[in-house]
Formats: sequence, structure tokens, C-alpha cells
Amino acid sequence: MMKEVTMKFDFSGKNVVVTGSARGIGFAIAGAYAACQATTFVLDLNQEQVNQAVEKLCNQGYKAFGYVANVTDPSSLESTFKDIIEKHQSIDVLINNAGITKDNLLLRMKSEEWQSVLSVNLNGTHFCTQQVCKYMLKQRSGVILNIASVIGMMGNAGQANYAASKGGIIAYTKACAKEFASRGIRVNAIAPGFIETEMTSRLPQEVVDNYAKAIPLARMGKPIDIANLCLFLTDEISSYITGQTIAVDGGLTMY
Ligand SMILES: NC(=O)c1ccc[n+]([C@@H]2O[C@H](COP(=O)([O-])OP(=O)(O)OC[C@H]3O[C@@H](n4cnc5c(N)ncnc54)[C@H](O)[C@@H]3O)[C@@H](O)[C@H]2O)c1
Repeated sequence: MMKEVTMKFDFSGKNVVVTGSARGIGFAIAGAYAACQATTFVLDLNQEQVNQAVEKLCNQGYKAFGYVANVTDPSSLESTFKDIIEKHQSIDVLINNAGITKDNLLLRMKSEEWQSVLSVNLNGTHFCTQQVCKYMLKQRSGVILNIASVIGMMGNAGQANYAASKGGIIAYTKACAKEFASRGIRVNAIAPGFIETEMTSRLPQEVVDNYAKAIPLARMGKPIDIANLCLFLTDEISSYITGQTIAVDGGLTMY
């Protein structure tokens, strides 16, 4: 039986921003930090969904605040992060989690499907990082985690846009890690495999069954599996790890 209890890290006094955290993996990540005493910032597109997510966290006695912002819009991000800094003084952890899929075979892929996936997944990661690193560089501390995907490592038919965006995130992670290392900022990526969320609930059963057969641990992962690694990779315990992409995928990718 899988143990779902979040390991007890202590993030008290730390401000943690998680993008795309009104639901799914992002919400599990926000919840894990909140449970470890962090002040957690839920950033997502829809006001009502952000409010609901924050309410769920606050009802458990956690400290959480919500912001509506689109990761593709640098000006909305600038005011969001400025407001967090003005009210809470620091951003200690940034989790770039917001992401979308728009699958199609390459020949049929519309320009909008290509552009929007690159825009949210890759540009969004960059815009948030660029805004937040200003503050982390001044603080001379901080940890950034990018949620990539195993598809960015191994590719997938029908997901050229998504694979390119997530492969880009893996390369971007290394560049940022090199650029920021001397300033006390670490940057890593997590590559989830096949995790039970709304994103994967849209997949046909046949695709799900085929995936399950290819996973050595023979099951899909849960959002908390990703959240637990986030805690480890942003805690002092992992202070010698930077520029890495770690798969959480039941053994799907092994190189
Ligand atoms: N579920 C999986 O199996 C899986 C596997 C590998 C990687 N991932 C990655 O994990 C991350 C989370 O995936 P999920 O399964 O929880 O997806 P999800 O669709 O359930 O949640 C994504 C969240 O991101 C938000 N979002 C989308 N576009 C945004 C934007 N422009 N600005 C701000 N927020 C935005 C959505 O509103 C939503 O709340 C994504 O980056 C995804 O690519 C997921």
C-alpha cells in the first residue's frame, strides 16, 4: 500500500509560489508546502477556482493566498510578484507548474495548438522565472523547480508541441542553474510520468491501459508523488543538487 502522507519538512517562514495550482499536481504541491508550514501562494487563471483552492487550504488551518495571473502575460506576473514581495518580503521557492496539452498529429497540428502549448509551458516558465529571479538574486537565495514531463525526455507521437515545450524546460533548467549557482539559487526540474489528474482523465482508456503496461511499477502516479519530491528538492537537505531533471514515473524512463 502506498504511503500518501507528506514527509514532514519544515518550511515555516518560507514563501512558496506555485503556478497553475488551483487543481491537479499544482494543488497537491501547494497543499504539501502549506502542510509543512510554508506561506503558500496559489496562482492560476480563474478567480473562483483560485478562491476555492485557497479556501480548502485555509480550512485546514494552513496559510495560503490566491492570485489570478496568466503565466503567458509578463505584465500580470510583474504586478503579482511585486504585490507578494510588498506584502510578504520574499519569494523563497517558485514552482513553475502551469501547463497545458493540445495534442495532434504533426501534419494536422494547427498553428494555435503549437503556439499556445509553447507559450504556456515554456514561455510561462521563463516569464515567471525572470520576474522571480530579480528578487531571489537580491536575496542571494531561493529555489526554482520546473515541472517538465517524461515526454520532454522521450517524445511522444501526437505531442510534438508538448514534447518540444517540456524538452525546452529541461534545457532551460540547466541554463538557469548555471547562471544562478554563484548567487545561491538552485534550479531543478521534475519530469512526472503518468499522473492521475484532469489532464490525463481526458485520455482514452486504451491509451491509459497501454501506458500502464509500459510502467514497471504498473500503476499511474498520484499528484502527491510529485509534491513529495518538490519538498525534498527545495529543502536544505538537497543543497548540492542543481540543474537536474528527476523523473517521477514508476520507472517508465530509465537511461
Ligand atoms: N498529469 C500528468 O500525467 C502530467 C505528466 C507530466 C507532466 N505534467 C505536468 O504537470 C503540470 C500540472 O499538470 P496537471 O496534470 O495537474 O494539469 P491540470 O490541467 O490538472 O492543471 C493545470 C493547471 O494549470 C493552470 N493553467 C493553465 N494555463 C495557465 C496559465 N496560462 N496561467 C496560469 N495557470 C494556468 C490550469 O488552470 C490548471 O489549474 C503541467 O505542467 C503538466 O504538463 C503532468
